[in-house]
Amino acid sequence: MNETGECMSYRFNRVVVIGSGTMGGGIAAHVANAGLPVYLLDISSTIVSASFDRLKKSKPPSFFTPQTAELVSVGNLTDNFSWVAEGDWIVEAIVENLQAKRELVARIEQVRKPGSIVSSNTSGLPIGVIAAEASADFKKHFLGTHFFNPPRYMKLLEVIPTPDTDPRITEFIRTFGENRLGKGVVICKDTPNFIANRYGSISAALALNYIYENGYTVEEADAIMGPLIGRARTGIFRLQDLVGLDVSSAVADNLYGLIEHDESREVLRNPKLREIRTTQLERGRLGDKTGGGFYQKPAKGKKEDILSLDLETLEYRARREPEIPSIAEAMKIKSPGDRLRFILKQDDKAGALARHTIYNSLAYAARRIPEISDQIVNVDRAVRWGFSHELGPFEIWDALGVRETVANMERQKIVVAAWVKEMLASGHETFYRYEDGRLSYYDPSRQAYRQERTTEPIGDEVLFFELLTTTLDAAALASLCDAIDTVENGNYAGLVIANQATDFCLGSDLGVKELQDALMRVRFSAKPVIVAPAGRTLGAGAVLSMSATAIVAAAETYMARSESAAVKRWCGESSRPR
Ligand code: NAI
Repeated sequence: MNETGECMSYRFNRVVVIGSGTMGGGIAAHVANAGLPVYLLDISSTIVSASFDRLKKSKPPSFFTPQTAELVSVGNLTDNFSWVAEGDWIVEAIVENLQAKRELVARIEQVRKPGSIVSSNTSGLPIGVIAAEASADFKKHFLGTHFFNPPRYMKLLEVIPTPDTDPRITEFIRTFGENRLGKGVVICKDTPNFIANRYGSISAALALNYIYENGYTVEEADAIMGPLIGRARTGIFRLQDLVGLDVSSAVADNLYGLIEHDESREVLRNPKLREIRTTQLERGRLGDKTGGGFYQKPAKGKKEDILSLDLETLEYRARREPEIPSIAEAMKIKSPGDRLRFILKQDDKAGALARHTIYNSLAYAARRIPEISDQIVNVDRAVRWGFSHELGPFEIWDALGVRETVANMERQKIVVAAWVKEMLASGHETFYRYEDGRLSYYDPSRQAYRQERTTEPIGDEVLFFELLTTTLDAAALASLCDAIDTVENGNYAGLVIANQATDFCLGSDLGVKELQDALMRVRFSAKPVIVAPAGRTLGAGAVLSMSATAIVAAAETYMARSESAAVKRWCGESSRPR
């Protein structure tokens, strides 16, 4: 391994991305963000130039700086195909069509240089089948790399090796994805739609069916299916409009055909769901890209209100504020687990939809183990990182109480996976637990807990201080000062202050003097104090960073005195996913 954690036998000096659309463009930009030169290719020069222009203007920005775009050279697949031979990593991100991908793979095989790695960014086509006709050497160097949209901001990168992929290559891509691209990597099995989209497609269909069959409005559904239940602000219909109904329908249809054995697949073919989808598709209401989907934006330059689709008449109408008082009540509760527990108990439309969606989705996740993954932690990470949910399904289940939730599911005739019941029967009450201060998770195949993989051993000589509260309070400062004492008086080379939260620190509730005294301890520590912030780093978080001997900031760090308009803009109004 070298200093960035890459195996010495592989090294990326040049990356080639084929397909310059939403994903190919975003991946090319993010690889350039990591400092690597990229060739971006598409069918014609006209297409690739238009894509590149859009990419440079994208909002939120795909490139770290306007200059980063200079690392990308564009070309077409006729005149510039020989560029593929220069790539150490060739990423295929063309249309989601098996035949097209297979033909491209055959062309790549003709020119790729020995040792180069080739990957496919499919949403769910079987990776093994894409390269089925290729040589043994090609297959050894081929795997899936499934980025989420937009690639710069979405943390998840699903890496899908086939049985033929060289494990060293999988490991190299994992470390490269984590250390150079800043992604959260989840290694997936080559099963339809991998982890996040498999769970996401079924979970979304479960919710939509209930919404359509029980007379919810789009506004009600979005108010319930967003932050209220720990999901992104886009709710369910805003998200559909962003993704595009054509794309989500294609993913659902592909999935249906590939999962004959899945007891839940019929939720994808619910008659009401199909009727609404077909009408919307026929009317060309695909979402934001056609100016209207479940919401209709006013034409450019017009200052009219956004209209909402009436789910009964399928015509647009003025927005109707949802009248469900428990939503506002629940939103006052900060902890996602407590908030969910509160809403699940409500005897109203919010409670009913939340119960249906949450209980069915959690049970579905458990029934997919070990099919889509042997480990629950992979499912939780994929769902959190891929869709910006606050908690993954097993984390929610723990927060609600596993035993109590199983009883609630069974009361609703939802099938609970046998391994969950066995876990409870053997006296294990949670999916996760802390052992010696380290997180471990239940491994159904061993019927025992397994310790979390630690990616970054910090070494015995450096003390690590994890900031566990997003607001610096007196208790956090006292333990920080203790940590500095320990480092100064002990056999330590220094102290690292960091955390794994979405936001490093949002401020403090301390008086100026208390804060100042602690910052002076950091500033004048006899041993180096390194602060490693990520996400919003505001107020006390910013001054703490500036007091350190050195800052090692993540690329997506938003540092300011307070949550100013500029910070909101950087982070995106809708809590930018990281
Ligand atoms: P897109 O439609 O935006 O871009 C596809 C690009 O591929 C176009 O520029 C097109 O000109 C080019 N292309 C089409 N056929 C080609 C061929 N035969 N040879 C070479 N180039 C060709 O599609 P998008 O959304 O970027 O998707 C690309 C891949 O990424 C698909 O496999 C999709 O399933 C997957 N994906 C999409 C996500 C999304 O949110 N849009 C998320 C994750 C994966």
